[in-house]
Amino acid sequence: MSHILEIPKWFDLHTHFRQGELVASYISDHLEMGCAGALAMPNTLPPVSKIDGENSEHGWSIESYRGMLLEAGGDQFEELIVPLYLTKETTAQDIERGAKSGQLKAAKYYPPHGTTNSAHGVPIENWIGSDVLKAIEANEVILCLHGEQHGLTGADYFDSKHTAESKFYQNWMPKLRDTHPGLKMVCEHITTEAAVAFVESSVEGKVAATITPQHLLYTVGHLIQGLRYHLYCLPIVKFENDREALRQAVTKPGQSRFFAGTDSAPHTDKVTECGCAAGCYTGGCAPQLYAMAFEEAGVNLATPEGIDSFRRFLSANGPEFYGFPVSNETFQMVRERRGATKKAPVTSLPEGMGLELEWAIV
Ligand code: DOR
Ligand code: ZN
Repeated sequence: MSHILEIPKWFDLHTHFRQGELVASYISDHLEMGCAGALAMPNTLPPVSKIDGENSEHGWSIESYRGMLLEAGGDQFEELIVPLYLTKETTAQDIERGAKSGQLKAAKYYPPHGTTNSAHGVPIENWIGSDVLKAIEANEVILCLHGEQHGLTGADYFDSKHTAESKFYQNWMPKLRDTHPGLKMVCEHITTEAAVAFVESSVEGKVAATITPQHLLYTVGHLIQGLRYHLYCLPIVKFENDREALRQAVTKPGQSRFFAGTDSAPHTDKVTECGCAAGCYTGGCAPQLYAMAFEEAGVNLATPEGIDSFRRFLSANGPEFYGFPVSNETFQMVRERRGATKKAPVTSLPEGMGLELEWAIV
């Protein structure tokens, strides 16, 4: 008998459920992989850029987007957070009102044109010291950040010494943190040694980070050898020293700063006329991929210490940072090659990479 790994159901604190008829399949794939709750990102079309009220062609409200997700099967989650997409229309009054009403738990910074549906983003320099960020800070709303310097091209965007992400964490994040010392922030889908260093140098409980399975498993070499576009996501997978820093961060005994956020991002058309859509779909297989990454990082998931570090990352640190309870229910995984099932008609990351899952959800 293979060893059974049992931990509390986990939370995906960064995912994409989109809009339209496929939403139910994405949510179902999440429920099937032992997921107890999710934070569904607001970069939909149109974006989730207001708190309540009627949807329009310019924006949906958190209230109606969340309502739609609940109806599509999300009512089976214990927790479902939808952050507000910060745009040039966002006001400090909206933030205060939303926080007081209980509908606004988090807000999301997107670098303008930095990733899928991020055209409404406003540059980070406009936010630092602004009334909107002061209201986010004062009302204890969590600021989720897509941490990449916008507007860079060519070697300024990506080379072996600096990337849009490392520049963001070295140049902007210290300013942001020092200007708003009370702000609770989640550095989303971090991919670099520089981002890990920033998080670890910040106050515990104030600054945390999500990390995806693909950034723990792969480096840029895996992407470019054969142009494996199913691995193309943003921020792009990085170098070996970066992957090593991420692995050390998530597996450090007792760590509380890093937690699961898959950035599972379904694209029905991955290859587009103008290039490649960014995003890896990991619905149905994320805990299995995380388990493989922990093992590659040297963690023995048959030992109490190994299980504890896996449990913290998947099931405990996220709820603790966001301030909701760890799930009372558990899910089980077994170290067996059974393949994953999924409903969504989207190629998953392991399918795209020809990767066999070493673990199965029981
Ligand atoms: O790869 C990504 N896909 N990164 C993002 O930031 C957005 C996401 C998406 O929505 O497809
Ligand atoms: Zn995302």
